[in-house]
Amino acid sequence: MPVAYLNGKFLPLETASISPLDRGFLFGDGIYEVIPVHSGKIFCLHEHLDRLNEGLKNIRLQPIYEHQQWENIFQRLVKENSVADQWIYLQITRGADTVRDHQFPERVKPTVFAVSHPKPRLPKNEQAKGIKAIAITDIRWKHCHIKTIARAAYVLMYQEAKDGGFDEGIIINNGYVLEGTTSNVFIVRHGVIFTPPKSSQILSGITRNKILQLAEKHKIPYRETKIAERELLKADEIWISSSTRGIYPVVEYNGNVVGSGYGGTLWERMWDLYAEEVDNLSVSVSN
Ligand code: PDD
Repeated sequence: MPVAYLNGKFLPLETASISPLDRGFLFGDGIYEVIPVHSGKIFCLHEHLDRLNEGLKNIRLQPIYEHQQWENIFQRLVKENSVADQWIYLQITRGADTVRDHQFPERVKPTVFAVSHPKPRLPKNEQAKGIKAIAITDIRWKHCHIKTIARAAYVLMYQEAKDGGFDEGIIINNGYVLEGTTSNVFIVRHGVIFTPPKSSQILSGITRNKILQLAEKHKIPYRETKIAERELLKADEIWISSSTRGIYPVVEYNGNVVGSGYGGTLWERMWDLYAEEVDNLSVSVSN
C-alpha cells in the first residue's frame, strides 16, 4: 500500500481520509497535477509546479508551498515506491467547511493530497503500434486552460471514445481540433508539425510544450496554428501527448488508417529526442 501525503502528514494511503464536506467532493472546487517519474527521476518538476501555481491563482487560492518544499514531499513519496517509473498525483481543493455553501468559506485551509503510483513506461516498439482515436464534440466549459478537478465533461467524452472501442477522443469545437480528452494533439504534414495554439480551450500541456521546445532546438519545422477537423484526414501522422502516455502515435482516426498505420518517421525522431530529454532534465531523487 503506497504512502500518501495529506495536509502535512505522510500516512498509508488506505488510512487517508477527507471530509464529505470537502469542496472538491461537493463542487469539484480544486485543481490537480500529474507529474511523471522516469527512471526514478521527477520529470519537468518546475514546469508542473509553475502550472500548479497558475492554476491556484486562476481559482483564487494562494500558493501552498515553495517549489523546494513540494520537491521534498514528492521525493519522499517516490522513494516509498521501489520502482523506477511512477506518476505523482497531486490534488488541491478549497478545503472543507462545516456547511455546504457555494460561497468561498472563510478561515478554511485547502486540502492537499499527493500520492505516487507505479507506471511502467512502454518500450518504443510497443508504443509505435499506436492508438485509435475518434472525433468527439466539445461539451466543456470556457476555462479549459485550468487543470480543474471538475472532470465530468472529460470523463463523459473519454468514455464515449472507449465505448466505441477507441483509445482516445479528439475534441472538436466548431470544426476545429482542440486537444484529446486526456492529452494534447499534433499532426504532421509534409515534414511540418502542427498543433493548436495555447488558448483557454486547451490545457497548456507540459509534454506539448516540451515537444515544441525540442522541435525548435533541433530545427524541426513546427507551427502552432488552428487545425480544421478535415486536416486530420490528410495528416501523414497524428500524435497525442501527455505526462502519463508520453508521445503516442494515432494510427487510426475515425476508422481511417493514418500514414503507414504505425508510428511515423517524425514521431520516431521526436520519441528519441524526448527520451534523451527525460534522461537529461529530470530532477534526481536523492538517497
Ligand atoms: N492529462 N489536455 C488534457 C485535457 C489533459 O487531461 C492532459 C493530461 C493534457 C496533457 O498535459 P500534460 O502533458 O501536462 O500531461 C492535455 C493528465 C495526464 C491526466 O489527467 O491524467
